[in-house]
Amino acid sequence: MSDDQLKHALAELAMAHRDQLGGLMPLLHAVQKQYGYIPEICAATVAPVFRLSTAEVDGVISFYHQFKSRPQGKHRVQICRAEACQANGCRSLEQFSKDHLQLDYGESSDDGLISLDSVYCLGLCSHGPAVRVDDELYVQVDNEKMTRIIRELTS
Ligand code: FES
Repeated sequence: MSDDQLKHALAELAMAHRDQLGGLMPLLHAVQKQYGYIPEICAATVAPVFRLSTAEVDGVISFYHQFKSRPQGKHRVQICRAEACQANGCRSLEQFSKDHLQLDYGESSDDGLISLDSVYCLGLCSHGPAVRVDDELYVQVDNEKMTRIIRELTS
């Protein structure tokens, strides 16, 4: 898709949310859902529709960490780093996973297969460390289990 086509599509989406109360947030969710991330030209394209500045829209995008400014990997690996999982050893799992994948949080592998992110509580607190891979939940994840999970994603 060319930049012009993308701009046009984003403007159409913005117009569809323009009259909605607090329409910017639903619009950004719609953009994220459609493209998997918020393209760089989004803020400048949609800001006038909502009578906002580009900086204001950029501020909203960067404030909410669920909005991604880069394309995400095919599979999203999220490690819970909230308190209960910390008490169960998620910090060492985080470091192991980052080293194993050679990714930091918010990054995606060069082949576009895996994105690594943190998450704050998956509701599995007594069974941590907890991990979500796409829509699948894993509990009591140690380094060995994470190695298997990653192997399945990459094979
Ligand atoms: S603290 Fe990790 S699942 Fe709740």
